[in-house]
Amino acid sequence: MTGALALKRAAPSLASGQAVRFAPRAAGCWLVTALCVGLPVAAAAQQVVFEGGAVPAPLTAVPADATRGKIVFVQREKGHCILCHALPDPEVRFAGNVGPPLAGIGSRLSAAQLRGRIVDPTQDEPDSVMPAYYRTSNLNRVARPYASRTVLSAQDIEDVIAYLLTLR
Ligand code: HEC
Repeated sequence: MTGALALKRAAPSLASGQAVRFAPRAAGCWLVTALCVGLPVAAAAQQVVFEGGAVPAPLTAVPADATRGKIVFVQREKGHCILCHALPDPEVRFAGNVGPPLAGIGSRLSAAQLRGRIVDPTQDEPDSVMPAYYRTSNLNRVARPYASRTVLSAQDIEDVIAYLLTLR
C-alpha cells in the first residue's frame, strides 16, 4: 500500500523532468557496489566497429587532449608505447626499437587508422607483435581480474591519437 502511494507521489515529479537526476545516482550506486565486491570498474569495453583495419568513430564524445596523450604514450602504467617506439621529441630520451619510429606518423596515418592500430593491431596485421590496447576477446592467458578489462581506457586511446596526430 505504501509502495503504491510512493509511486503515485513520484509520478508527477517524474513528469516534470526529474527522471534525469536518477541516472547518475543509479550509476553511483553501481560503482560503489562494484568497488565493494571487487568488480573491475574500468571494464566493459564498448563495441568497436572496424572498417578494414581502421575505426572511423571516436571511442568517446569528450574532446581529445594531446598533452595527456603524450603521458599515455610514455608512462609505464599507461600505454608505455616508448617501450617499442622512438619519437622525435627531445623530452623522450629512451625508447625501444621493436616497432618503427613514429616520426611523421600524423601525416601518414589518419585518426581512424591510428585508432584501429591501437585498439587491435591484428585487424590490420594478423601477426602483429604490438599489444591490442582495447580488445577483450581472443586474448591469451589473461588473469581473471583482468578478463573483461582493456589495457587503456577509451579516453586514453583518443588522447594518444590526438598526440600522434601532432607528429607531422
Ligand atoms: C611490444 C612492442 C610495442 C608496443 C608496446 C607498442 N607497439 Fe606500436 N607497433 C609495434 C610494432 C612491431 C609495429 C609494426 C607492425 C606490427 O608488427 O604490428 C607497430 C606499429 C605501430 C603503428 C603503425 C606505424 C606505421 O608506421 O604504420 C603505430 C601508429 C603504433 N604502433 C602506435 C603505438 C602506440 C600508440 C602504442 C602505445 C599505446 C604502441 N604502438 C605500443 C610494437 C609495439
